[in-house]
Amino acid sequence: MIEAVISGTGLYRPPHRISNEELVQSFNAYVERFNAEHAEAIAAGSVAALTPSSVEFIEKASGIKNRYVMDKDGVLDPARMYPRIAARPDDQWSVMAEMAGEAARAACREAGIEPSQIDAVYCASANMQRPYPAMACEIQALLGAKGFGYDMNVACSSATFGIEQAVNAVRCGTARCALVVSPEITSAHLEWRDRDCHFIFGDTCTAVLVQAATDVPACQGFAVLGTQLATQYSNNIRNNFGFMNRCEDSNWQERDKTFRQEGRKVFKEVVPMAAAHIEAHLQQLGIEPSGVRRYWLHQANLGMNQLVIKKLVGAEAGSEVAPIILDEWANTASAGSIIAFHEHSADFARGELGVICSFGAGYSIGSVVLRKR
Ligand code: COA
Repeated sequence: MIEAVISGTGLYRPPHRISNEELVQSFNAYVERFNAEHAEAIAAGSVAALTPSSVEFIEKASGIKNRYVMDKDGVLDPARMYPRIAARPDDQWSVMAEMAGEAARAACREAGIEPSQIDAVYCASANMQRPYPAMACEIQALLGAKGFGYDMNVACSSATFGIEQAVNAVRCGTARCALVVSPEITSAHLEWRDRDCHFIFGDTCTAVLVQAATDVPACQGFAVLGTQLATQYSNNIRNNFGFMNRCEDSNWQERDKTFRQEGRKVFKEVVPMAAAHIEAHLQQLGIEPSGVRRYWLHQANLGMNQLVIKKLVGAEAGSEVAPIILDEWANTASAGSIIAFHEHSADFARGELGVICSFGAGYSIGSVVLRKR
């Protein structure tokens, strides 16, 4: 079997950033406006008054302080509360493809290869801009890549599941240089008017190159020791937006057509699943959790990562064992654990071990065990 290596990663940073202070100010302006407009109905008891949000709650409950978005004005406009992203003609590159192109080129520079050497493209993301043609085919054309491309959606685990596809393709010889890109425009699926979740997400795109070891210089990159995926059906994170909405005569503005979750249940159920998953995967490879230098965990909630890492090795999340990037980036769906890897792996010495692990809707969990070359 051919050994697979992560030879480079890339990160796209969207043009706008929103602090918790700005976000809460606009949310509370929306609440005031809503309550004034519905004053009579609220007094009559037929409409519930909305309650303001708070910066203190957001930071304490999630650890998030900031997020990047593709469009700030639309999100912060109390009369709109979602991004404004112009439709493009069919003969122009789409927004997601452009984000992916930027992240992929950065990964190629890090790996020291040309985009034309890529021979498989996996666009692995929680949301696709359209059903077809596959985003991956457009990204392949934008990069001038060869081979084939297809799209994958496993919500917040899309990137790790995509890495497994890329690793298997390289191991089997169906590709020599596979690209996994995860353009996450989460601002477009988030309900910015819902106090329970309006602070959660941010936009980004990550890129991961997986190459045959023989094509990568001896001391470059991380050897993939193993990947392990698991899913278990749950409705606790759900979005009913889809191509059947027209047939259902339903309205895209209804609450169930954007992100919804039972955050508390997700927290309680996913933490033990993720810790047990990582432990079992490491055991299969004959590795003790304490023998791993770093865990690049999914970035949804600081408290969740605290518990996962405590269970595994007794370390603190936010330490060098389990770096946190969600304070700056918020939850970037499948890109979060990849951003953590991208930003916190340059200091690894030869032979040191690390684990990328995502967890999210599905439920879905994906782990990738790596050894620095
Ligand atoms: N501002 C102020 N108060 C708020 C608030 C806001 N924006 N949102 C909720 N609250 C209040 C609630 O009304 C509730 O008040 P009560 O106790 O008087 O009823 C209280 O804060 C606690 O609400 P709860 O929803 O139980 O908060 P929580 O501690 O569970 O934190 C999350 C919410 C979403 C941060 C947390 O559950 C979480 O991150 N879960 C994991 C989510 C996850 O990983 N999802 C995957 C997504 S891909």
